[in-house]
Amino acid sequence: GRSQLLQGRRVVITAGGTREPLDPVRFLGNKSSGKQGVALAESALAAGAEVILIHAHMDVAPPRDAKQHSVDTALELRAATLSAAAGADVVIMAAAVADFRPSTVSTGKIKKRDDVADPVIKLVRNPDILVELVAHRAAQNLSQLIVGFAAETGDDEHDARSYAEAKLARKGCDLLVVNEVGPGETGQEKVFGRDGNQVEILSRDGAGPVQAAGSKRQVADAVVRVIAERLGAT
Ligand code: C5P
Repeated sequence: GRSQLLQGRRVVITAGGTREPLDPVRFLGNKSSGKQGVALAESALAAGAEVILIHAHMDVAPPRDAKQHSVDTALELRAATLSAAAGADVVIMAAAVADFRPSTVSTGKIKKRDDVADPVIKLVRNPDILVELVAHRAAQNLSQLIVGFAAETGDDEHDARSYAEAKLARKGCDLLVVNEVGPGETGQEKVFGRDGNQVEILSRDGAGPVQAAGSKRQVADAVVRVIAERLGAT
């Protein structure tokens, strides 16, 4: 058997939040800190994997032992991820990828002018990288495990879990790591930027969800264990 859970496996991990430019000094961004992605990279490295970390903006430093690509936008993240995925056993999409980008990027700084109406930002959709990874795997007949993340909020009609199950089916990845975001009972944000996390790991093959809670590293270790079980079983 393998001495370590991911010994010799090549793992691509995306992390952080993309920034979509509006002009040379402004962007649309999101609250992702990159902490969960970095914890996954550390956990996979500790499990013996070769790790390629493709990261957009993060509040934390990437681990030294990972190979790294730094990107800004969703389109850059997509190009780097699709190219790295070609040789990967596992791809984990932990990055917060902007669903939309400004349709045009102004070459000069957008100015306020009293003689012109205030600007309106038009957005266009970014490609869904996770969906593309699943399509590439099928087209190239790769044996590869693809893991998505989902930050869900429940509402009056459905809880976060049922939205997550629908997302897992729609995206076609093997595992979906789900956390419920938004204000908790105390009104404080539950996940973004925080040190702890609480997730459910859903499997497309119908295996029961695995719950994990604790530090982002403990959650990462749980995700790595589920991944290693899947690789062992195929
Ligand atoms: O649809 P939603 O953004 O909630 O899905 C989250 C998952 O999809 C994450 O794994 C994220 O990295 C991935 N994603 C992506 N490309 C996008 C948007 C999200 O790969 N354009």
